[in-house]
Amino acid sequence: MIILGIETSCDETAAALVEKRDGSISILSNVVSSQVELHSQWGGVVPNLAAREHLKNILPVIEKALEKSGKEENGIDAIAVTNGPGLIPALLIGVNTAKTLSYIWKKPLLGIHHIEGHIYANFLSYKLKDREEKQLFPLLCLVVSGGHTQLVFMKRHLSYRIIGETQDDAVGEAFDKVARILGLGYPGGPEIAASAQKNSPNSSKFNFKLPRPMITSHNFNFSFSGLKTSVLYTTKKHQEFLNDPAFVSAMSHEFQQASIDVLVAKTIAAAKKYKPKTIMLAGGVSANTELRKQLETAVKNNLKNTNYCIPDTTYSLDNAAMIAAAAHFRLETQRSKSKLINNWKNLKADANLKLK
Ligand code: KG4
Ligand code: ZN
Repeated sequence: MIILGIETSCDETAAALVEKRDGSISILSNVVSSQVELHSQWGGVVPNLAAREHLKNILPVIEKALEKSGKEENGIDAIAVTNGPGLIPALLIGVNTAKTLSYIWKKPLLGIHHIEGHIYANFLSYKLKDREEKQLFPLLCLVVSGGHTQLVFMKRHLSYRIIGETQDDAVGEAFDKVARILGLGYPGGPEIAASAQKNSPNSSKFNFKLPRPMITSHNFNFSFSGLKTSVLYTTKKHQEFLNDPAFVSAMSHEFQQASIDVLVAKTIAAAKKYKPKTIMLAGGVSANTELRKQLETAVKNNLKNTNYCIPDTTYSLDNAAMIAAAAHFRLETQRSKSKLINNWKNLKADANLKLK
């Protein structure tokens, strides 16, 4: 079975061909056209500019994905597209392109939730047989992206229960905003991570202590807006040092560590209550090396016999291979194949689509 995945929910135009055979997934092609340079001038994604770029790039990106895979339209069994959540002008480009192709090529069409895609990016990296896959469940996934921070409990494939989430900013959003406060580039996540790495805690003349919001709260929710405001006030107080790289790297380091401390503590606390067999990490912030390392250490030290899954960093950030991967699992559970005939008519983009 081969699925063409399409993703346009934010600022990447992406298409990929993914094959699933005997339980094993292979990526035939994965094309991502990034708009980072365009949006960096504005310090964030401008929805209508994103839509214009998606419109310009979507067909060339799909053509390239087909070409790289060596497949043609008749080699594709289904089309999958992110239908939410995300920026509506951006989502509409991907959804309407996918609907048109589904109509012309007479292929079934699947709408995939963006976060479901991020979770299934993990299944691109793990060449697991169906039987082994079952031993991963129940699993607890820490979803960390530019729009989401959630703890998702999954008893089985495609079954989601959100047991905790951010009450305000997503952690990726906080990384982006803090980078802006510190005069670093966009997107902020990789900039903060690189700056934090340059910090030498023992010799730095700066030693900040930021709060760890909600770390001891008796639930699995998060809050990152107060942490970001703390960075803002501390930076304002030390305005004269903003051009000092030692100041910026000390602040980046402490902000990153405060975020990781909360994410790790909440994940471990939730795991102690829900007793999953696997801890999984997903979303753009899962590209963060320190988070990947520190969560792994915490899982080893605090949870016995628990698997730890992280996506290959190539698939941490937005891409279409993850959308096609999720669609393979959805298609397998679809009992009535007749429902898939002409189903493009029913698919709608939804900026606030819920994970279910
Ligand atoms: O999943 P994603 O590509 O898009 C959304 O679905 O939102 O995530 C983008 C977010 C941005 O906020 C970006 O700053 C953050 O992921 N990010 C990182 C890193 N790489 C990307 N955050 C921390 N460390 C990184 N290395
Ligand atoms: Zn994403």
